[in-house]
Amino acid sequence: MEIKTYLNEQRRVVEGALEHYMLGIDVEHGIFAAHIEAMRYSLFAGGKRIRPILCLAAGQAIEKRPDPDHELLPIACALECIHTYSLIHDDLPAMDNDDLRRGKPTSHTLYGEAGAILAGDGLLTWAFDLLSDSKQTTLAPEKRLDIIHCIARAAGSLGMVGGQALDIANENKAFPFETLRTIHRSKTGALIIASILAGAIGAGADQKQQEALTRYGEQIGLAFQIVDDLLNVTGTTEQLGKTAGSDTSRGKATYPAFFGVDVTREKARTAVEEAESALALFDEKADSLRAIARYIYTRSH
Ligand code: IPE
Ligand code: IPE
Ligand code: MG
Ligand code: MG
Repeated sequence: MEIKTYLNEQRRVVEGALEHYMLGIDVEHGIFAAHIEAMRYSLFAGGKRIRPILCLAAGQAIEKRPDPDHELLPIACALECIHTYSLIHDDLPAMDNDDLRRGKPTSHTLYGEAGAILAGDGLLTWAFDLLSDSKQTTLAPEKRLDIIHCIARAAGSLGMVGGQALDIANENKAFPFETLRTIHRSKTGALIIASILAGAIGAGADQKQQEALTRYGEQIGLAFQIVDDLLNVTGTTEQLGKTAGSDTSRGKATYPAFFGVDVTREKARTAVEEAESALALFDEKADSLRAIARYIYTRSH
């Protein structure tokens, strides 16, 4: 199957599930409607849904049954909620101060800073509600606990939040390569690795499989952020659905700022090749993971 067709299909699966789970909080708490509307606005503003898709693809790479998706869907959706919260907060005036995201006005431009902060808080917290809700999944409690720990660790101060703090602290500074690599590994790589591992743990991956998938995730996580940096320089605002050129104007620590565009593109390609090599021990059930790695290098938004 064409990678674009596969991604479109999987995106529809994830969005259907997000709608389904969201109904649970929509109907029960009418008095919070304005706050929940702000959560919904960003969650359904579009987005590639690459983290939930990776979670499901990792499950499929391990699982012997044809369709493990139903067990992994709440986990996949929780990952997208955490990612969307990170984008809402990333765009705030105190952070990257962006007014366009996923081709639409950012949360704070519509709901105010307090509304956007709280929409992000709501999505982050709801993610862990979903992950820990025994009514939503038939996954064994021990597996769920491992997954929750893996995701919490990756989303927090030793992962995404820590990376965001480093990213902000290094604006307009001369930064060593080690700092740049740590920023990319933590602000973006950590949640991508956790998305893959969560799917793998849910599907019963053994230690060796988890280690191989971690190596795959490290490389595609790095490639993903390098390509994000590249597109910020080479893409247009219309194509990206977010403000092109913003990294340069904010003095961000990026690969193109450090290496220039050509070397950066080469580094993304190498990372994707290494990601594919990391999958050597998997059979054709990991072909979606292989195709996603290649897509990350060629993506245009
Ligand atoms: C953007 O992530 C922020 C990064 C971590 C690079 P995505 O490129 O996955 O954004 P959406 O979800 O498709 O909008
Ligand atoms: C986003 O990094 C990382 C997270 C939201 C965790 P960027 O600030 O580089 O991403 P964009 O370009 O705004 O999507
Ligand atoms: Mg940022
Ligand atoms: Mg940003």
